[in-house]
Amino acid sequence: MNNYLEPNEWCIIEKGLKPENNRSSESIFSIGNGRMGQRANFEEKYSGDSLQGNYIAGIYYPDKTRVGWWKNGYPEYFAKVLNAPNWIGINIDIDGEPLDLAKNKIEKFERVLDMKNGLLKRSFIIKMPNDKKLKVDTERFLSIVDNEIGAIKYSVTPLNFNGEILITPYIDANITNEDSNYDEKFWDEINKKVLVHEGYITTKTKKLDFHVCTAMKFDIYKNQRINGIVAKTIEKEKFIGNTVKISANIDDEITVIKFGVVVTSENHDKSKLMDVAKQKIDYAYSKTHEIMFKEHTNAWAEKWEKSDITIDSDIAAQQAIRFNIFQLYQTYTGEDERLNIGPKGFTGEKYGGSTYWDTEAFCLPFYLRTSEPQVAKNLLLYRYKHLNKAIENAEKLGFSDGAALYPMVTMNGEECHNEWEITFEEIHRNGAIAFAIYNYIRYSGDKSYLSDYGLEVLIGISRFWKQRVNFSNQKNKYVMLGVTGPNEYENNINNNWYTNKIACWTMSYTIETINYLKKSFPKKYNLLKEKLKFDEKNEAGKWKKIIDNMYFPEDKELNIFLQQDGYMDKEQVLVKDLKQSETPINQNWSWDRILRSCFIKQADVLQGIYLFEDKYDTETIKRNFDFYESRTVHESSLSPCIHSIIASRIGDINKAYELYLRTARLDLDDYNNEVAEGLHITSMAGTWLSIVEGFGGMRIQEDQLYFNPSIPEQWNSFSFKILFRGNLLKILINKQKIEIFNQSNTPISLMIKDKKVNIHANKQIICKL
Ligand code: BGC
Repeated sequence: MNNYLEPNEWCIIEKGLKPENNRSSESIFSIGNGRMGQRANFEEKYSGDSLQGNYIAGIYYPDKTRVGWWKNGYPEYFAKVLNAPNWIGINIDIDGEPLDLAKNKIEKFERVLDMKNGLLKRSFIIKMPNDKKLKVDTERFLSIVDNEIGAIKYSVTPLNFNGEILITPYIDANITNEDSNYDEKFWDEINKKVLVHEGYITTKTKKLDFHVCTAMKFDIYKNQRINGIVAKTIEKEKFIGNTVKISANIDDEITVIKFGVVVTSENHDKSKLMDVAKQKIDYAYSKTHEIMFKEHTNAWAEKWEKSDITIDSDIAAQQAIRFNIFQLYQTYTGEDERLNIGPKGFTGEKYGGSTYWDTEAFCLPFYLRTSEPQVAKNLLLYRYKHLNKAIENAEKLGFSDGAALYPMVTMNGEECHNEWEITFEEIHRNGAIAFAIYNYIRYSGDKSYLSDYGLEVLIGISRFWKQRVNFSNQKNKYVMLGVTGPNEYENNINNNWYTNKIACWTMSYTIETINYLKKSFPKKYNLLKEKLKFDEKNEAGKWKKIIDNMYFPEDKELNIFLQQDGYMDKEQVLVKDLKQSETPINQNWSWDRILRSCFIKQADVLQGIYLFEDKYDTETIKRNFDFYESRTVHESSLSPCIHSIIASRIGDINKAYELYLRTARLDLDDYNNEVAEGLHITSMAGTWLSIVEGFGGMRIQEDQLYFNPSIPEQWNSFSFKILFRGNLLKILINKQKIEIFNQSNTPISLMIKDKKVNIHANKQIICKL
């Protein structure tokens, strides 16, 4: 656990620099703008422990698979998000001594992530080995308005000497990934150009041929006045820079304003990349740092205006929820349907920047409720466009006739993860992709999505489920063998309740969709039938048979759903009996011991209960919750949020609050001892849900919004906003009442508890709780 960050409503603050915290802080203070993002590495040289990370959305490397024993069906490669050329560098030297926080005596250090304005700041005072004292203030942002541009303001003030300061702004393309299977360097240089105060490097990835041009342009000011001192250019392999020598007296503030631009062949003509980079950087430069920053903060203000959550009287909870929202918006802005959301966003290499089921199961509901429907639709279209690859993926495993298995991990639709128990067996992901279509439609009301795109995906997935089950004569039921459920601490199990559930649900939703399209869009339906060679009678008939005869494990005595066949054979111990020194178990126990234990990594049966909650009464939910929560170690970030929502649903608000803090502060407090590797971006959406669906009790039922609120004892009030079918609503809940402001020009009717209320345009209603 970490506890070195200061509480603050709008900022994350670190005071003092402890080298052992640096990697964690580099993750936590990351900035991004949906197109690119970077860890909070320092601009100046740092010889201490650090993970250099500067990432560009969609730019990856298919690293050759490394496994002990090759299994047929393994993908050829594992996709890696690439550490991209570093444009932030600004080295400072005084009398031949580099400014280096690992070597200098630090008298004061503060790092701040200003979430309101999307700004990363540092200020520090250091004494160098030559006794020279310096004050340094830095600010950095990646423009959320023009997402190929970033800017740095870097000020140095001598505190006890008059002398010369050497300043070297540079771009370094000689970078590596920490996570590389064969220690390869992933970038080749194509060309470069360095001028006075300006420079460009074009690089390309060794495979796949992504081209990237990284540019810089800078000015130096002395006491706010531009300083015309000529710079010396530097040009080395994969490196360009300028060195400027400037004389300064005590208290003179020397400021570098450096712009960085990153343009790629994904968005521009390859042959013109350097020209485009030049135009962009000239544009930013002539616009000025001040105006670029103003536009950036205005855009952030707009985002916060639509999505801020306030929590009165609980600063840790308040800070955490803003941190989660901030990081989500930094990672995905929803303008480009080719992009998706990696579990670590732009904050680390782990999970390779690839797309997981996390997007559909966790992120989609967040974007759906806080952004225009097109944003969530783009996430769905991403999968629609990968349907053929999902069919190929299934074929590689021996399925046929249009059965689609979406990959567990992907960059371009191909599976790129190579652990058999996950690649081949963690097939519940297919269900999440189907459920996301339903989720989008029930929230947005955009039913045309079904005929335009949705049905094709649903049929592909249902065909897969049909082939993946088999009939057990012994059980006289359909069964699904050899799977891994969401709980990855069990592999190759039979009849994972959740997977069986979501499989049947998909088939029945597909049948429901077919019936709807037959009635409402018969022409389109017939065209689709032909395109997919869909034999409705036979195929849908078989699905129905499976749905009606599927086997679901349960424990009759305890009256609970069973995670899988044989779960009760395990020694039944509880998380509360685990010694603290043994947790997290994935860092302290052998894998063998974990697999044999009853401990559960993340919501599994409860993930199903969360999705299909309306099918169960409160007592059933409670029994299952009590049983599984006491055995769940929450060692996946995706877990506490779901448990928190269910705890709110059954009225266990203390538990919901405890789990809320765990999900919301997972990274800030480093519950799972791994934040150094990067943040858990996808579970941040789950945090948001644990407020809105958890405490806010928001649901959609039959095209209508529904709130059944509760409030933790620790809070005086909380408020959140959602965008529902064009209506922006602000919901404020305190211990006595719920107030809903309809901040739009059309009226809306909705349910509060069991009461229907109408709210006029731009009006509010108040209901007692
Ligand atoms: C979880 C998966 C998840 C992945 C990426 C794993 O630890 O068990 O459910 O998809 O992380 O977030």
